[in-house]
Amino acid sequence: LPFWVVIPAAGVGSRMQADRPKQYLPLGDRALIEHTLDCFLGQPGLNGLVVCLAADDAWWPALACASDQRIQRAGGGRERADSVLSGLHKLTELGALDSDWVLVHDAARPHLAATDLHKLLDSLQDDPVGGLLAVPVRDTLKQADADGRVTATPDRSLFWQAYTPQMFRLGALRQALADALACGALITDEASAMERAGFAPRLIEGRADNIKVTRPEDMEWLTRLR
Ligand code: CTP
Ligand code: MG
Repeated sequence: LPFWVVIPAAGVGSRMQADRPKQYLPLGDRALIEHTLDCFLGQPGLNGLVVCLAADDAWWPALACASDQRIQRAGGGRERADSVLSGLHKLTELGALDSDWVLVHDAARPHLAATDLHKLLDSLQDDPVGGLLAVPVRDTLKQADADGRVTATPDRSLFWQAYTPQMFRLGALRQALADALACGALITDEASAMERAGFAPRLIEGRADNIKVTRPEDMEWLTRLR
């Protein structure tokens, strides 16, 4: 199945509290983002891959993969959605059609298994909307008020954690993201923009170890996973 990939990598990683954006932290012998890119490069069906980088990014040029001809660059933006939108515009420049599939995957999620990637592509190739990798919530969920007092225990079986890649048609995703940004809507992933546009993305159950590095302890988890 032919597909394109956008890797938003223009975040500053404020929750990580490191000396650099988390996608550039060392993991084994390379930077974290290089492991992420390796999940896609060389996959059959990959039409092209774009990384979205902050304008003042001084870390990317130092990486070996910066000279990899298979990787194209786009600018970043204030919000994640701005960065992804910029990546989608770059794909169009590269010849992508509005009807083509695009996979958006966090730079900070380096442990995507090839089996999960193939499961996503296989499961959604004939889907009218698209969808995302997700993991069923494992713990009991509590809803609480601002004081931390429990107000409800919702039915856990209805809740999933949204992972990436998230896979949608280029034209529909661009429209959904642009509309959401224009309205100042709070969207933290591509699926929520699609939902806002009236679509119902499909959840494809993935592995729980496809974690996004967010806080310092996540790096320890990753190191142990490898
Ligand atoms: N991202 C981006 N452009 C932004 C914000 C985020 O491309 N304006 C990217 C990040 O680089 C990351 C992914 O989106 O790969 C997921 O975002 P998140 O985990 O929130 O990363 P950061 O925004 O960098 O971290 P934090 O929220 O802790 O500052
Ligand atoms: Mg963020």
